[in-house]
Amino acid sequence: MPTPSEYLNRAAVIIITGGSSGIGCSIIKAIQTVGTNACICNLSRSKPEILLEKKGVHISTDLSDPQAVLSAAEQLRTLIADATSGEVILINNSGFGDYGVMPTLDRCKQLKMIDLNVRSMVDLTLQVLPQMLDRGGAVVNIASTSAFQPTPFLATYGATKSFVLNWTLALNEDLRGTRVRALAICPGPTRSNFFKAAGFETPPMNSGANATLDMTADEVAAYTLNALASGKALMVTGWKNKCIAFFGSKFPILWVTRIGGKLLRKLRLEQHRKGQQ
Ligand SMILES: NC(=O)c1ccc[n+]([C@@H]2O[C@H](COP(=O)([O-])OP(=O)(O)OC[C@H]3O[C@@H](n4cnc5c(N)ncnc54)[C@H](OP(=O)(O)O)[C@@H]3O)[C@@H](O)[C@H]2O)c1
Repeated sequence: MPTPSEYLNRAAVIIITGGSSGIGCSIIKAIQTVGTNACICNLSRSKPEILLEKKGVHISTDLSDPQAVLSAAEQLRTLIADATSGEVILINNSGFGDYGVMPTLDRCKQLKMIDLNVRSMVDLTLQVLPQMLDRGGAVVNIASTSAFQPTPFLATYGATKSFVLNWTLALNEDLRGTRVRALAICPGPTRSNFFKAAGFETPPMNSGANATLDMTADEVAAYTLNALASGKALMVTGWKNKCIAFFGSKFPILWVTRIGGKLLRKLRLEQHRKGQQ
């Protein structure tokens, strides 16, 4: 089994979405720490503060806009075609959630979430996959432990992450016998801008039962590189998240939805109280 350093040294191009903050930023940092000769290319609306080093490229893109994805994919294809021989790693990490009761949530934001979390992941992957098949490599998609059961109060977000998980595992089977594989990463609650962007008053890990589930973005990045090097198709980060994923997928779906709804309703009341303070 190669070490992350040996694995990354096979790559000529590493493409990541959402490297400007949180988990994506930590993945770029971890790649730079491990060391690679590959060109790292980031796609997000703002430029990552961490230096993308000499060979780094930033393509400023709103991936929730299908036209912008098309134009970014064209630039990526040129970048790959011009790169020295070596594998291509595509990390689809950009994503956001929206917390609240369905009828009160903004319809446009819900649709943008589907466009970003689902559509852009599928489109970017399909647009660069032919070149990846020639060179070898991996598609890494950041799903979530929300993927394993319905998530009341984060209904659309949880459903997009179920799509990401199932699509990635199926893609990995489709790719069997080729030089490309797919890997789904399922982090649990992680410290990043995610909760603020999703409309939480305070990150849920600062309170109640979730306090013990907290992970840093650097830890998720380390899990990601290890899973990539070790040839895994699925990585749920940490044993507590693994337990949640196991119970979420083994018990009857209606029970799990109901229990999840009760826990999240309690969280919602806590959030509401904090918002009024
Ligand atoms: N934090 C958690 O608890 C957690 C748990 C499980 C899974 N995840 C998943 O992990 C991934 C990374 O999230 P994070 O926790 O690191 O949150 P984050 O700190 O908010 O980072 C989100 C990233 O997505 C990018 N992004 C957002 N909208 C975009 C758009 N329209 N076009 C292009 N890029 C966009 C942002 O870049 P710009 O704003 O510069 O565009 C940013 O770099 C997401 O897919 C999230 O669902 C997070």
